[in-house]
Amino acid sequence: MEYKPKIDRRDFIKRLGALGAMGWTRHRTALETATASLKQLAAEKGLLFGSCLALKYCVQSAAYQQLFLSQCDIATPELHMKWNSLSSQPGVYDFENADKFVAFCITNRIKVRGHTLVWHDALPAWVAPQLTAETGPAMMTGHIRKVAGHFAGKLYSWDVVNEVLDPGSHRPDGLRDTPWLQKCGTSYIELAFRETAAADPNALLVWNENYLEVSNGFGHAKRAAMLALLDGMLARGVPIHGIGIEAHLRGDQAAVLGDESYEAFLGELARRGMKIFITELDVQDLTLPADVETRDRAVADIYSRFLVASLRQPAVKGIVTWGLADCFTWIAGYRPRQDGLPVRPLPFDANCQPKAAYFAIAQTLRAAPLRQQERS
Ligand code: XIL
Repeated sequence: MEYKPKIDRRDFIKRLGALGAMGWTRHRTALETATASLKQLAAEKGLLFGSCLALKYCVQSAAYQQLFLSQCDIATPELHMKWNSLSSQPGVYDFENADKFVAFCITNRIKVRGHTLVWHDALPAWVAPQLTAETGPAMMTGHIRKVAGHFAGKLYSWDVVNEVLDPGSHRPDGLRDTPWLQKCGTSYIELAFRETAAADPNALLVWNENYLEVSNGFGHAKRAAMLALLDGMLARGVPIHGIGIEAHLRGDQAAVLGDESYEAFLGELARRGMKIFITELDVQDLTLPADVETRDRAVADIYSRFLVASLRQPAVKGIVTWGLADCFTWIAGYRPRQDGLPVRPLPFDANCQPKAAYFAIAQTLRAAPLRQQERS
């Protein structure tokens, strides 16, 4: 299905304004090509493009569903595969919503990124009281077997572990102090990868992590910890195939995004044979000016800066945003603006119309170097 935004004259003039800094000819080009879907532009460069999705968004908005289908060839369930979405009682699993999500994606030829098996967050309330050093490893591997086994053969990839690094935990190895680390020991990460490989041998197994993209002390510490841990695991033959760079970008961090140290880090991952995915891309606008045109321009510039640097690396195989349109974004609750204005972190506005960020992403994709197409 092709996405065809309706463009009337008032809308046209409004959007010209929103494209602020660009020259007149480029305005025309941008508007003429507004119908180009990001998945098509990405596919022309051997890249996947998609977004997270919760089924309720499609129920609430037919326009959003249409937008999603027109833009995405890969998707991540925002909620449906997290442990607390699957199991409200010990050992009892309800796959109804996750199955619906997978069926919807398969019907529409959209690849699914399983998200996520081992995380310190989104655990059902019953897990903590049951988790001890004796029960920990079996609880974790039992969950992986159940969930990865349930979807075996249907998913493109699994985020096997999520956000397992935290320099704030002050450990020499950089690992986050989580219940899994406490009860299972440092080998829980490799155990998780081996179990997932056994349960679903065809899925691409990914370590998904936040703040790797930020070139400050925190980000540098995360990168160093990841590379050291990766070296150990790869030497031990742990089946880890990819790294997810979350990229929840911040409007006030433009200066520490997309620099040479970030590109060098991507190079280090590539040298270790990792496929790289941008997995949760959005831009927090709470520190940016209230004026919508200025704000949209600033958000778009951050998308550009980050994606230009990311796409220079051929090991980067796909881009997944954490939502498509501003009507459904976790940023509204997670990082709201102090002035109470609606947040605008995504490529399309609350009416599913393309914003400056969409044009910036499209332009970055058009200019991206061609890479080898990912397997289907
Ligand atoms: C977020 C969802 O978007 C929210 O709706 C939910 O309330 C909390 O989780 N890192 C991740 C994602 O890996 O799973 C998180 O998703 C955002 C941060």
